[in-house]
Amino acid sequence: MSTILDTRPLDLVADFPAIPEGWAYLDTAATSQKPKPVIDAITRAYGETYATVHRGVYQRSADMTLAYEAARARIATFIGAGSSDEIVFVRGATEAINLVAQSWGVSFLRPGDRILLSQLEHHSNIVPWQLLRDRVAIEIDVCPLTADGRIDLDAAEAMLTPQHKLVSLGHVSNVLGSVLDVRRAADLAHAVGAKLLVDGCQAVPRLPVDVAALGADFYVFSGHKLYGPTGIGVLWARPELLDAMPPYQGGGSMIDRVTFARTTYAPPPGRFEAGTPHIIGVVGLHAAVDYVESIGLDRIHAHETALVRRAREALSQINSVRLFGPEDSAGIVSFAVEGVHPHDIATILDEGNVAIRAGHHCAQPLMDALGVPATARASFGVYNGPQDIEALVKGVERVTRIFG
Ligand SMILES: Cc1ncc(COP(=O)(O)O)c(C=O)c1O
Repeated sequence: MSTILDTRPLDLVADFPAIPEGWAYLDTAATSQKPKPVIDAITRAYGETYATVHRGVYQRSADMTLAYEAARARIATFIGAGSSDEIVFVRGATEAINLVAQSWGVSFLRPGDRILLSQLEHHSNIVPWQLLRDRVAIEIDVCPLTADGRIDLDAAEAMLTPQHKLVSLGHVSNVLGSVLDVRRAADLAHAVGAKLLVDGCQAVPRLPVDVAALGADFYVFSGHKLYGPTGIGVLWARPELLDAMPPYQGGGSMIDRVTFARTTYAPPPGRFEAGTPHIIGVVGLHAAVDYVESIGLDRIHAHETALVRRAREALSQINSVRLFGPEDSAGIVSFAVEGVHPHDIATILDEGNVAIRAGHHCAQPLMDALGVPATARASFGVYNGPQDIEALVKGVERVTRIFG
């Protein structure tokens, strides 16, 4: 691996057949567009090499099983896991967090235990814990944010007690782009005997992630935000946690021996992958990981940081624009235009071929904290360049002209 950071701007839009010329796609935080190698891998897997996994004794199925397990090993290396057995394939981050809540949470939390979330969490890192609260009578505490929109770890330190059994935080905010100091969050959680779950949905496509170095206990992400397919995601957990967790769903593949009297379960990760898995999703995710690693996460991060800086600078020149989040946010810029609903901003931008997201971004408690019903959000990916920022800024200027 090169130790010298390549700072040349990325120019990769030609890899993305679904991005026509002149279209500024600025909604990567919702889902990323797919590069040709991912589309080709999926086409090949369905069109040439398709078969089920883990069951067939015929060669085609054995080969597909090898491909499926090779993807697991590739993803383990990608995020710094100790072994591929620590990688559980799930539908996405949402399913991963529900799995932890319903398996680890129901087994190991007791009434009165506390968990700490933050004000900026995505609903998928809030609602599963509320469902758990309904089952186990745990208490949920909410860590506030700093003035510039980061999770306030000083406040977290003051709030944490030995009653806290879990801290569950977003690595990168999907609204503000603020980046969590995961290492410090892990140290704070561990100091009171709590585990740390990290929602890495927006981090894995934007930053190098090494779960061992970060000190997390659980780490989750979705493939479709990482230039891979929808319907596939990853739960990583420390092996001793997975070993102790009961199954989340029952069915084929997750068993050791089934009788009507009693069923014993397969060891992790198979224990958590009931039913025929999303084979092609896994193959596509492998190709996506190869794709981003061929570019380099350091380089992707530098590229998106430069785009964020450029966008924030240009938007801050427009009087009626309010920017949210810190200056150094990772690939995401949320903003408002005084007196204009974000949906109107997005509609007018769309007329100029600029696709942004407007709404609460599945983070209603964060909107409450910001004191707005919604924001407009531009989020970047490897295919964006300065021309997209220009189109965004031109569009926002048009919004201000239309609304006077
Ligand atoms: C920070 C964050 N967490 C969780 C999710 C949920 O991901 P998915 O819908 O792919 O399960 C998202 C998706 O928007 C997200 O941005």
